[in-house]
Amino acid sequence: MSIAIITGASAGLGQEFFRSIVKRYPSLEQIWLIARRAERLQELAKDSPVPVEVLSLDLTDAACYAALEARLQAQKPSVQILVNNAGVGELNEMIDSDVATQTRMVDLNCRGLTAVTTAVLPYMQKGGFIITVASIAAFAPNARMTVYSATKAFCMSLSRALREELRPRGINALAVCPGPMRTEFLDVADITGRSATFEMLPYCDPKKVADGAVVAAAKGRGVYTNRAFFKFYRVLAKLLPHSFVMKLCKT
Ligand SMILES: NC(=O)c1ccc[n+]([C@@H]2O[C@H](COP(=O)([O-])OP(=O)(O)OC[C@H]3O[C@@H](n4cnc5c(N)ncnc54)[C@H](OP(=O)(O)O)[C@@H]3O)[C@@H](O)[C@H]2O)c1
Repeated sequence: MSIAIITGASAGLGQEFFRSIVKRYPSLEQIWLIARRAERLQELAKDSPVPVEVLSLDLTDAACYAALEARLQAQKPSVQILVNNAGVGELNEMIDSDVATQTRMVDLNCRGLTAVTTAVLPYMQKGGFIITVASIAAFAPNARMTVYSATKAFCMSLSRALREELRPRGINALAVCPGPMRTEFLDVADITGRSATFEMLPYCDPKKVADGAVVAAAKGRGVYTNRAFFKFYRVLAKLLPHSFVMKLCKT
């Protein structure tokens, strides 16, 4: 059974990944959608031409990793596409935050990503690909999004090294690095109305980000960034000292 798996499919970019994959890969036999809000996933699946399995999992909870592994073992699918999209952020100085909020970002963005990828890898098929959603915050550290940007550097680093590991197996891994998008993320991360930088920056369309990432991953590319502005920022962050870049892009 040839399948795709998408985490964080109940909102924003994850929903766009679902639409993009359904449109481009109608011959998939199933799509597994993962998030905590099952009713949102069921709603998304309603008119899908590809059958959908809803997996209501909290990817910060280790018991859920075992549940995912057990389902994979029972069904032994052939995974053509894995999209590691679930993620959470927070805009705050660390000193003004709390342990639960800060560690939730690490648990979901790093630990959840690692668990899902490790569990799914043995089932990935040749010619398939893994998309991991990082962020422009992966290009250089961002004060006030200190932990978030560190987790996104982790996502990008993991994806790039995994790409090298998987090359001989004919599987691609792509890190997608979007700029800001108008999704629930902005409220969940408490960004709305609290950052002059976020108010100034150009925004990315989640549909274009998802479509662009799926096409780039299928072509075998390693990193995808949407919009010329953020592609330029990626080059700047490679060329300039991060001590300087951090002052330019204060959140
Ligand atoms: N929006 C931006 O400005 C922006 C910019 C760059 C990168 N990104 C990245 O893009 C990705 C998607 O974000 P988005 O903008 O689409 O945000 P969003 O609308 O807030 O969606 C986040 C998704 O993650 C899921 N999620 C959250 N906590 C979870 C948990 N504990 N277990 C399982 N799933 C969980 C949510 O589902 P449930 O709540 O139903 O569990 C939801 O489906 C994230 O990795 C984010 O870091 C966002």
